[in-house]
Amino acid sequence: MIRNLAKKGVASLQRYLPGKPIEQVKRELGLKEVIKLASNENPLGPSPLAVQALREAISQVHLYPEDGGPQLREAVAQRLGVSPEEVILGNGSVEIIQAIEMAFLNPGEKAVISHPSFALYRITTQAAGGKEVLIPLKNWRHDLEAMAKVVDEHTKLLFIDNPINPVGTMVTQEELQPLIERMPENTIVILDEAYYEFQDKANYPNSLQWVRQGVNVVILRTFSKIYGLAGLRLGYGIAKKEIVELLNQVRLPFNVNLLALKAAMACLNDEEHIQRTRKLNQEGKKYLYEELDRLGVEYLPSETNFIMIELGQDAQSTYQEFLRQGVIVRPLHAYGLPTKIRLTVGKREENEAFIRSLKKIIRKRS
Ligand SMILES: Cc1ncc(COP(=O)(O)O)c(C=O)c1O
Repeated sequence: MIRNLAKKGVASLQRYLPGKPIEQVKRELGLKEVIKLASNENPLGPSPLAVQALREAISQVHLYPEDGGPQLREAVAQRLGVSPEEVILGNGSVEIIQAIEMAFLNPGEKAVISHPSFALYRITTQAAGGKEVLIPLKNWRHDLEAMAKVVDEHTKLLFIDNPINPVGTMVTQEELQPLIERMPENTIVILDEAYYEFQDKANYPNSLQWVRQGVNVVILRTFSKIYGLAGLRLGYGIAKKEIVELLNQVRLPFNVNLLALKAAMACLNDEEHIQRTRKLNQEGKKYLYEELDRLGVEYLPSETNFIMIELGQDAQSTYQEFLRQGVIVRPLHAYGLPTKIRLTVGKREENEAFIRSLKKIIRKRS
């Protein structure tokens, strides 16, 4: 059987389940109007500066991009106050997660992962033949003490998404610092800050300081969320030079495409678009919290652009009901949370459409 030929850990992998695309739902259910609040995309779309840059770049796509994206790495480094040798670009930050696994995790070595947290950490660890050590969240937050405790000489990686997808909670500088200090030389901590720009807490960890101090950390950020470029696939990692060099050794040539590089260069410092997105997100959360409170529906306050919502019964069937009403949300059964959904905060009218659908579903149930 061909499955027997697969590498250890691959045949039994649970594939990543992405949010359903709008076109597919329209096709399958014969709907004209569908809104997607399932993948934490930016409801405002890309920055106008990115759109303009894409128009200008389109006639150049017969050319390979500049490998490694030196110009963008320079710009990111300047924005963050690090050196360009400390920055690596990926085809989405997921590609950098995969590169970390490829470069560092030998078969049988351990990766410490919170459960639930972003699904890709488990998938890439299993694909690499690594051993996952799952640590349950405590009160829906990373249990940093428990994570630090299980680290031993066979632990190569430790993943912290901050804030956590799909939960939305974050850990602070004071909480994270002791874990970083306790890490042995043989362990690399991945600080996945995909939603960094959405939180505004003064005590959010200053993770860049750890890179500057030469600590074994890789910080991950992305153009997919606040920058609204999810479809172009572009993320970046920040780590000390020696780590970045190793990651460059395993990544494919031209891993980031020309259009993504041009668009990101144009919008990296578009503070206006970033601020508009943050404001829309804050207003959207406020509206959704108020409506959910009014309906007596439980949710977890979030530091991100999504909210985890408790539906009190099998969320898979409720998810289907939402779909029939043209609203795509994310059921969380794959994360071991069968009664919950994750909702991306959308534009005002999208949030209202979600609440209208939820009200109908609740009415039908009672
Ligand atoms: C925590 C976290 N990390 C990484 C990613 C992947 O982002 P990218 O589009 O940059 O690959 C996501 C996407 O949902 C995420 O939630």
